[in-house]
Amino acid sequence: MAIPFLVLALPLILSSPFLSSASDTLSKGSSLSVENANDVLISPSGTFTAGFFPVGKNAYCFAIWFNEPFCNNNCTVVWMANRDHPVNGKRSELSLLKSGNLILTDADPVTVWATDTVSETSVHLHLQDSGNLALQNLEGEVLWQSFDFPADTLLPLQLLAKDKQLVSSRSQSNYSSGFFKLYFDNDNVLRLLYDGPDTSSIYWPDPELLSWEAGRSTYNNSRTASFDSLGNFSSSDNFSFMSADYGMTIQRRLTIDFDGNLRLYSREDRKDKWTVSWQAMSEPCKIHGSCGPNSICNYVPSSGRKCSCLQGFKMKDVTDWSLGCEPEFNLSCSTSETTYLRLTHVEFYGTHQDTGAVKPGYLQIATGFRKFTYAELKKATRGFREEIGRGAGGIVYKGILCDHRVAAIKRLINEANQGEEEFQAEVNVIGKLNHMNLIEMWGYCAEGKQRLLVYKYMEHGSLAENLSSNTLDWEKRFSIALGTAKACFLCNECLEWVLHCDVKPQNILLDYDYQPKVSDFGLSHPLKRDSHEISRLSRIRGTRGYIAPEWVLNLPITSKIDVYSYGMVLLEIVTGKSPIADIEDRRLVSWVKEKIKEANDMDLMMEKIVDPKLAGKYDKTQMKFLLGWP
Ligand SMILES: *[C@@H]1O[C@H](CO)[C@@H](O)[C@H](O)[C@H]1NC(C)=O
Ligand SMILES: *[C@@H]1O[C@H](CO)[C@@H](O)[C@H](O)[C@H]1NC(C)=O
Ligand SMILES: *[C@@H]1O[C@H](CO)[C@@H](O)[C@H](O)[C@H]1NC(C)=O
Ligand SMILES: *[C@@H]1O[C@H](CO)[C@@H](O)[C@H](O)[C@H]1NC(C)=O
Ligand SMILES: *[C@@H]1O[C@H](CO)[C@@H](O)[C@H](O)[C@H]1NC(C)=O
Ligand SMILES: *[C@@H]1O[C@H](CO)[C@@H](O)[C@H](O)[C@H]1NC(C)=O
Ligand SMILES: *[C@@H]1O[C@H](CO)[C@@H](O)[C@H](O)[C@H]1NC(C)=O
Repeated sequence: MAIPFLVLALPLILSSPFLSSASDTLSKGSSLSVENANDVLISPSGTFTAGFFPVGKNAYCFAIWFNEPFCNNNCTVVWMANRDHPVNGKRSELSLLKSGNLILTDADPVTVWATDTVSETSVHLHLQDSGNLALQNLEGEVLWQSFDFPADTLLPLQLLAKDKQLVSSRSQSNYSSGFFKLYFDNDNVLRLLYDGPDTSSIYWPDPELLSWEAGRSTYNNSRTASFDSLGNFSSSDNFSFMSADYGMTIQRRLTIDFDGNLRLYSREDRKDKWTVSWQAMSEPCKIHGSCGPNSICNYVPSSGRKCSCLQGFKMKDVTDWSLGCEPEFNLSCSTSETTYLRLTHVEFYGTHQDTGAVKPGYLQIATGFRKFTYAELKKATRGFREEIGRGAGGIVYKGILCDHRVAAIKRLINEANQGEEEFQAEVNVIGKLNHMNLIEMWGYCAEGKQRLLVYKYMEHGSLAENLSSNTLDWEKRFSIALGTAKACFLCNECLEWVLHCDVKPQNILLDYDYQPKVSDFGLSHPLKRDSHEISRLSRIRGTRGYIAPEWVLNLPITSKIDVYSYGMVLLEIVTGKSPIADIEDRRLVSWVKEKIKEANDMDLMMEKIVDPKLAGKYDKTQMKFLLGWP
């Protein structure tokens, strides 16, 4: 009779917090071994376990999971130290060194992960009942804690802070970093992003809505989010929700699942199944990338989401839809062998969609554009051969993409990450907007230290180049002045806009039709509409000759700085004189004022200042309009 009794008793012992060898604390100089199943930390009340967790054949990760009986390899993992670098099932160890550093070593022994902490006094590693693993000294001061480095799950009262993100697992059984992320964007809004191998795009909140339309606020830059054990979630961008079972004190976790959905789960007891008490996406097909490239997502409420390949394509990996489909044919760049296939009743993300109502000439691109590899761009530019422009931020080369489109490829100087801020600003501003008078960005490349931006090539170079040559007639100048104004003062048309901070003829490019396209947003700065003022700009931004006097006089910097720069460009278009080069020791503005004073009627005034290269061929009414004269 003894044997059945033992079998029954075993699970009780295994899940008991009072198991002799398991404790909630690891002290200095000791370690946990992958080879000893009892080498785990169990939180005081027994809710969580920390230890080596099997993630594959002879592959382990140091993890924290809900302490469940019989969960075997299918426990609810809430944190992992080394999800992308599993260690060997033999000789791997987690050690709290005498120096105060907590390290995870592989069999070799190679350190695959470390907290990089230092402490001369006593420290210990403690697994708390909240699920937080904390390295603390005797005074209780926290030197490091797992709550500061979330993986795919947030627990009650754990803060999702600035610069932190939740990253989904690769699949149901593969815990390594996947393609979906929850993070605070540069404009302080909490978002879900598909960050796949080829493209990346935001799918929550609905990318077709402006932040305020989605109920989000961009004003609070504290960028924090958390939820409590009752089921109340709130975030600093004013997003909040209550779980369906709000009010009950039960186990909860917020997880970005491998399918890209963000879900709040709850259960009363560890014997129960987790139930979903809130989720971000009710229509799974709106999660970008969940069926992978070249596939179609179809959702039928009764049977769930179904992925299928486009005609002529097959699944890349039959066990993993997120890798999508690949052609069963050999794709050629030659257009003569390529035809188009019409697909009905599908919505394609990755193209612009005119949302109609607001925003003339202004569309928000629903998704990211293309991520290029460095090799691709190197090939397109034939090894960065043909330089077509050069600035402080980098050098621009002409290139021809695989599909024959002609591109201007800007390679940023990114020594010591100095260009990183400019790169991010440019991708975030131009990448999200499409306006007929803004330069069209096709994609970017961020590989190691390499930072490149890919734009549509502009046949006629910059306004600066063309003004100094003799061929811009009045008609072209007038249309360039109007188009530039449309791009520079978009703030009238949309709710959030940026200060360009560097409006000048070098940054106004001309297409085959002499339509101006404003470019180079590397110095731009987001502007909050209501305040119309930006406070903490540390350095003067812009180019001598076009910089508003506010900078020099230390006055508040508002959207008017771009108005000033635009005004200088306008005078340059009219007079043909550059405020940098042509007017010796005198500002263009005072030169114009002087000339006007010398004349006594309006026609004469115009004659005095107009570019002599126009040989008197200009439209007086249009010129008056540009100068704001009655
Ligand atoms: C998990 O996915 C990663 C990334 O695709 C892959 O490198 C790794 O081999 C996978 N692990 C297992 C156990 O399948
Ligand atoms: C693991 O648990 C989940 C959720 O309870 C279940 O859907 C899945 O089938 C389980 N996987 C295995 C391998 O047991
Ligand atoms: C939910 O949490 C937020 C932020 O902590 C708080 O302001 C709000 O009052 C809470 N709501 C309820 C019903 O407790
Ligand atoms: C910003 O958000 C934090 C966290 O939600 C909150 O404590 C703080 O009061 C907010 N600040 C403002 C100015 O609303
Ligand atoms: C935040 O939301 C509340 C109610 O949902 C609203 O009254 C308040 O004005 C919002 N705050 C901001 C800054 O949008
Ligand atoms: C594609 O190209 C490969 C290598 O050139 C060749 O082996 C294969 O048969 C081609 N497939 C088709 C469908 O043409
Ligand atoms: C404008 O400048 C570009 C680049 O220098 C040049 O190729 C083009 O011919 C110019 N156009 C005119 C009309 O001068």
